[in-house]
Amino acid sequence: MLVFTVANLKGGSTKTTTAAYLAHALHEAGLNVLGVDADGENESLLNWQSLGDWPFPVIGMPVNNLHKQLPGIANNRYDAVVIDTPPMKEQRGIVLSAVRIATHIICPLAPTTMEFSRLSAVRQLLDDAAELRGDEAVDPVFAVLLTRTVPNASSTDVFREMIAEAGNHVLKATVGRREQFAQAFGLPIDNASNTAYGDAIEELLERGNEDAA
Ligand SMILES: Nc1ncnc2c1ncn2[C@@H]1O[C@H](COP(=O)(O)OP(=O)(O)OP(=O)(O)O)[C@@H](O)[C@H]1O
Ligand SMILES: [Mg+2]
Repeated sequence: MLVFTVANLKGGSTKTTTAAYLAHALHEAGLNVLGVDADGENESLLNWQSLGDWPFPVIGMPVNNLHKQLPGIANNRYDAVVIDTPPMKEQRGIVLSAVRIATHIICPLAPTTMEFSRLSAVRQLLDDAAELRGDEAVDPVFAVLLTRTVPNASSTDVFREMIAEAGNHVLKATVGRREQFAQAFGLPIDNASNTAYGDAIEELLERGNEDAA
């Protein structure tokens, strides 16, 4: 079972939007998808699923033993689970648990100095998860997804390079700052595969295969 955990340090960093579109891109690719909303305060993914009448289930699990509970609940019935997390600044225990069970961790980030400066806290959390996982376990794929990029602005390439130089994998796909995404909450999502999120899923799956080979 693939587990995609979307995580970042603070609120408003496009975690929920990213989780929603990645889950739809996986569903459109024919996978049996389960969404998990681990953000008990906002429950945005849960609400979006019911308002938008999504074609796959989302369950609420804002718990810090998600890595223990999820296998029993998903029970091999799903090909892919997408976990939307709360800001880890407030709910580190929950996000750590969601990272511990992940095969893929996606950190959505705008190409700005402020957002870049938050990345080290995410890396620290990954290190903590790795320590708890032990040496035998396979390391998850970690990738930064640039979101809210502005077409033709130099910031996209500048920050892509800075993030990569700091030792992080940055997906080639970038999600533009677009009204389509800004106004998406509560609506059905059609053709997620035709957005940058579809390209991001392709890259993530390829990367998972490379690492396993
Ligand atoms: N690509 C985009 N372009 C423009 N606006 C976007 C884009 N992606 C998301 N947004 C908007 O940015 C805001 C924050 O997005 P979102 O709710 O997904 O972030 P979040 O990290 O889940 O926030 P929270 O921590 O509060 O749950 C929302 O208003 C959303 O509609
Ligand atoms: Mg959210």
